[in-house]
Amino acid sequence: MRMNDLITKKRDGKELTDEEIAFIIEGYTKGSLPDYQMAAMLMAIYFKGMNDRETTSLTRCMAYSGGELLDLSEIKGIKVDKHSTGGVGDKTSIALVPLMAACGLPVAKMSGRGLGFTGGTIDKLESFPSFTTDIDTASFIRNINNIGCSIMSQTEDLCPADKKLYALRDVTATVESMPLIASSIMSKKVAAGADAIVLEVMSGSGAFMKNDEDARELSEIMVNIGRLAGRKCVAVITEMNEPLGSAVGNSLEVIEAMETLKGRGSSELLEVLKTLGTQMLILGEKCETEEAGRSMIEEAISTGKAIDKLRELVAAQGGDPHAVDDYTLLPKAAIVEQIESPQEGYIAKIRCDEVGMCVHTLGGGRSVKDEPVDLSVGLMVNKKVGDFVKKGESLAEIHGNSEEAVMKAKKRFLDAYTFSDTPTEHLKLIHGIVK
Ligand code: URA
Repeated sequence: MRMNDLITKKRDGKELTDEEIAFIIEGYTKGSLPDYQMAAMLMAIYFKGMNDRETTSLTRCMAYSGGELLDLSEIKGIKVDKHSTGGVGDKTSIALVPLMAACGLPVAKMSGRGLGFTGGTIDKLESFPSFTTDIDTASFIRNINNIGCSIMSQTEDLCPADKKLYALRDVTATVESMPLIASSIMSKKVAAGADAIVLEVMSGSGAFMKNDEDARELSEIMVNIGRLAGRKCVAVITEMNEPLGSAVGNSLEVIEAMETLKGRGSSELLEVLKTLGTQMLILGEKCETEEAGRSMIEEAISTGKAIDKLRELVAAQGGDPHAVDDYTLLPKAAIVEQIESPQEGYIAKIRCDEVGMCVHTLGGGRSVKDEPVDLSVGLMVNKKVGDFVKKGESLAEIHGNSEEAVMKAKKRFLDAYTFSDTPTEHLKLIHGIVK
């Protein structure tokens, strides 16, 4: 088999066989296929797509690319994992993992780095000084048995195909493809061994799925792959035509997640946490109804159990738990300025991917593989769709470390906003649940 022929086949819109997909994933994982051929294949898949059989086959090959799947049988109870398709300001996992553990649900979470215009949980968590997700399976299992949760990045032998493909897609404009996203997420989730999976599928300009129709199709593909792999799986479709909450950027998002766990953060983030968390608690058989799930979550926050659990998680993974209370220990940008509204009016629309790209402009995202990111930079967005703003009032606070980057990001941010003289509706947070 020659990779050249397979690229041609997909470029011309033909179906790849299971054997051909296995050849590609094995070759790329082992290093016999170079990045440039894989990049061409990814672009061909981006344009020509894959049918359900090809996507399921790709997922299976990726899940087994490191050999065996993770065995979590040493952990008692139903292990639930959660994954987001990615969005701007999506700090849900940082709050949800300790929150669920505080409700008594064991959470085995495997996370990724930033991708395209979206941030990644691992980058965000590295805002805690010395925190690491680079842990081995034994430490992952020990943490879950000791404190009820753990977050790890892909080890070398767990789904290595996704690790390599994820980094390559990030820098070759091949992220926004339904089969590539579905296989990337579900291969990791299957390999990571959890019994049940809750997927957060974001829909809108700040997500890879730009509308609800695509978000629903992706949800159905992933829930079906989960079912075929013998896992209980639910997808929640959420709004991404504006950032979730206010903070966009690594350490700023960590602070907003912590504030929400302390009961005084973003009401939008709280609502998403309650919706996703309730689904996790139901799949994990910790409650039977949504109402019961919501009250468990409210109690974990009001009693301080959820934030205590985050302190435990940070300490267990090598970080400084004092940073949960003393935010000066987190990375902080040198320049903090307001972005003033150029006019009066209602916010009609936000190009949310562009807001994500402002953080890249500030140095908070990657342009080439494995580049370090500036964890301190970002935005605190003050005005969202449906809000009224006066001329000169702050639309957002910008955090940066170079005057030039701040100036460029400010312009980019203002270009992402559309104003209207007539009132516009606030956006609805939850768009649907696919079971
Ligand atoms: N999250 C992933 O893990 N993979 C994708 O492709 C997109 C979001």
